[in-house]
Formats: sequence, structure tokens, C-alpha cells
Amino acid sequence: MQKYNFDETVDRIATNSIKWTVQSGEFIPLWVADMDFAVADEIKEALLKRASFGAYGYPKTPDEFYEAEILWWKKRHDTNISREWIQRVTGVIPSLSCIIKTFTKPGESVIIQTPVYNHFHIAIENNGANILKNELILENGSYVVDYENFEELAKREDTKLFILCNPHNPVGKCFTRIELEKLGDICLKHNVLVVSDEIHRDIVYTGHNYTPYLSIKEAFANNSITCTAPSKTFNLAGLKAAAMIIPNKEIFKQVQKAVEQNEVGMINVFGIEGFIAAYQYGDEWLEQLLVYLEKNIKFLIEYFKKELPLVKVHKPEATYLVWVDISAYYKEVESLQNDLFEKSRVIVNDGFNYSENSKGFLRINVATSRVILEEGLKRIVSYFKNNNL
Ligand SMILES: Cc1ncc(COP(=O)(O)O)c(C=O)c1O
Repeated sequence: MQKYNFDETVDRIATNSIKWTVQSGEFIPLWVADMDFAVADEIKEALLKRASFGAYGYPKTPDEFYEAEILWWKKRHDTNISREWIQRVTGVIPSLSCIIKTFTKPGESVIIQTPVYNHFHIAIENNGANILKNELILENGSYVVDYENFEELAKREDTKLFILCNPHNPVGKCFTRIELEKLGDICLKHNVLVVSDEIHRDIVYTGHNYTPYLSIKEAFANNSITCTAPSKTFNLAGLKAAAMIIPNKEIFKQVQKAVEQNEVGMINVFGIEGFIAAYQYGDEWLEQLLVYLEKNIKFLIEYFKKELPLVKVHKPEATYLVWVDISAYYKEVESLQNDLFEKSRVIVNDGFNYSENSKGFLRINVATSRVILEEGLKRIVSYFKNNNL
């Protein structure tokens, strides 16, 4: 039975949302990766109940937190994880920061596969490490891995880490088991630790599968840190609650120490409640959300096909972020993102944020109502029709 109506969104204007309060004025935000939908009823109830206590002193993370993480891995992803593998943390970016600080010395290197989430680039640079880019290759409209170059980068003396984005933001790719095996074997061979950011693991569409990196084989589990959070799946990014899964005891101890030293281990009172409620009760909401998002993606594809037929949409296998190649209509401007905002009052992310080779690409967030999405698309189309052709 349809319980949730995703045509109705929360009015987020003037609610201190980054996505909705960048600048004043009439604009349509299809950028920052959060959703405009209200969360599942059970999550809201858990937060309201906690708020009603009236006292918000330092929280103790209860067993239910760890049990909820284990439960979700089992029921949703058919994977067994142990309580001792779980490190609580305030976010995936804080996790990456701790990991980079711990496993690289200044000037040592980290591999990423571009175009990729801009905070991978930022976290590596902020922590004094060097970025090695293995550009994903477009082959017949799909992104594939350049294994030869990957191995060249992995075998360098200074390469210590590989940050995998699984599923991949912004291209929406679900890496297959075979692809992950090839990447993982190269990392094992050259002693490169794998950090698998799996924050988008639950938003996966019909016909595609997410493969948890640590589930592939024991050797991968023992040479990896998996970063997860309910934040993308359940629209809880502001609660700052996440977890790292680290089966290798030695690696676990090092990461635990880094989390303590960087003071990013204490999840706030609401984060704990939201995390538990989401993983315990979020299934139904998520199932209904996925249907809605898939329809939004279809709508976007058809919209561009009709209005700007030379646009190439990379239909996402996962994530609510759509990677759109608009280069057939693109004319060089200093910042496509700013120009779209100023001339058309729509905010999307410029492909350039994810790779310097992705000028003329846009990342469009479809986690909003169809009405808002349609208005945003109308503005994008009018920008290219009116200003650029
Ligand atoms: C791949 C990826 N990792 C991490 C994050 C952010 O994680 P957090 O808010 O937990 O720091 C995002 C947000 O968009 C993301 O896309």
C-alpha cells in the first residue's frame, strides 16, 4: 500500500538548509545531495520523542546503535558483520579525513577514480596527501575502469590508499563484483589499503546490484575500511551519524585512535535515535522512495530528449544524482553553475567539480517532487535555448 506521498515535499526555504538558502530570491535547487522529502514516520517519531526529554547532555551510544547497523547489513544486503568491526563516527567525510591522516604521510598518495565526489579531492588535499587520478573511461556510453593505469598508480612506492566510491557519485555506477575483484586484487598485490565509501548503497535501481566490497572475499575484508551512513538513504545528513566497518583488528585499532584524536566519535543525541530508527523501520519508506526516484529519472531523460535532444543522460544505476553531458550545447563560461544560477535561477552542480575533464557536464539531484524537478529542468533548458544557442 502506498503510504508516503513524495509529490509533497517539505518547504525548506528559511529552514537553515544549505540546499535551499544559498542566496535569497526565487531559485530551484537541484544540487547538494540531500532530499526534499519528509523522513519516514518512525524516524520523525523517534526524534520527537527524544526532543521531548528536554535534557540533551552527553549521550552514550547504546547497543541498539550497533545492532541496527548489523541488522541493516543482514536484512538489506545479506551480509554478516560483527559488532567489533563497527566504529561509530560523525560522518563519512570525517572518516575519510581520519583514514588519510592515519595511513599516509605528507606527500604520499591516494588513488581516486575521477570524475568523483568533490570532497574526496578536498579531504586528500586537506590532509597533506597527493591525489592520483584514475579517470573512468567512457565506452559506448558507460563508464569503465582503466585497470592498466590503475595498476601503474597502485604499484608506486608512495601509493597507500585507494578511495573507492561504491556506488559512484556522480556517474551513478554500481561497480560489478568482477570489476571490484579486479580492483581489489591489484590493491592486495601492491599493498594498497581500500577505503570503500558505500554511503549510496541503498539507492539502487531495478536491474542493478550493489556489491559490498568487504563481502567479496576475506582478503578484501581484511584490507579495507567501509564507510556507511543512513544519511543519503533516509535523508538524515544533518544528524551526523555514520559508521565505519573494519574487519581487520590492527586497522581497526589505528582508525579508532584517529577517531579519538580527531574528536569525531561522539554522535549527538538525535543522530543516535535517527540512525537506529532508520535501520530498524525504514524499509517501507525506502521501497516507496525508490519507485518515485526511478520515475523522476525517467521523467528527466524524456524531458531532455524532447527539449534538448543532443544531451546525453547517464542513466544512474544507483544514487539520486544524475550525470548529464550537456556539452553539445555548452559554450565556455567561467562557471556554468554560476551562470545557470544568475541567468536561469536554477542551481545544479558543475561537472568541473568532479574532474577537470568534465566541463559541460552537470550533476542534477532528482530527490525532490516532480513539480520542482520539472521547473528546474525547464530553467536549465531555457538557459541553453535562450542564452547559449
Ligand atoms: C560519496 C559520498 N561520500 C560522502 C558524502 C558525505 O558524507 P557525510 O555527510 O557523512 O560526511 C557524500 C555526500 O554527498 C557522498 O556523496
